[in-house]
Amino acid sequence: MKFLAFEGLDGSGKSTLIQELKSQLTTKGQTVVVTREPGGTPLGDEIRHLLLRTSGDAPVPRAELLLYEAARAQHVERVIRPAIANKSWVLCDRFTASSIAFQAGGRTLARHDIDWLNDFATAHVKPDLWVLLDLSTVEAQERIANRELDRFEREARDFHERVRAGYLALARENADDWLVLNAGLPMPQIRDRLIEELQKRGWWS
Ligand code: TYD
Repeated sequence: MKFLAFEGLDGSGKSTLIQELKSQLTTKGQTVVVTREPGGTPLGDEIRHLLLRTSGDAPVPRAELLLYEAARAQHVERVIRPAIANKSWVLCDRFTASSIAFQAGGRTLARHDIDWLNDFATAHVKPDLWVLLDLSTVEAQERIANRELDRFEREARDFHERVRAGYLALARENADDWLVLNAGLPMPQIRDRLIEELQKRGWWS
């Protein structure tokens, strides 16, 4: 029963890895809650739409950050905290680190503002482990090329380079809490490496 957050560029394979891990945990008889940000609640999904749409009034960076944080507060209170209390595994596609990588790294907002807002929105609820699926921006963009791109996916290459650098810096700063995986490897290998890490930490019996 652990809370894991999955991070990375769009196209890095987070949702596939989450589904792989979910199926392994379910086979072992564990209860698993899979959720995502922005979203995870009805209100969060409405906010998600406002954030990702490519028409209408695009939020300025500060408004963008506050919308993510509003969705996050609802998500933590309504989904994550109850799931933890219920002794479920929580597999969350993006969490507070996305705001640091995208809004500080990508949008260049001040890190200390984001740290404070993250703490406020989550009331200090934190994942037991962060899993970063690291991928070059070239490869990430190739992988999403056939999708209908959202507002972030349409950003220029240097935006995504700053996001990636933001993630890697965060993982270096907090090495004990982060597992950095090469997202260019085949998915079964990535999944096995993650399970190995969970075993090493004594979370996989
Ligand atoms: P995601 O659900 O990963 O997109 P997709 O459905 O295309 O896989 O995330 C939506 C976008 O929101 C993604 O580009 C990253 C961005 N994002 C932020 O900028 N800040 C945040 O705090 C979060 C949670 C996401």
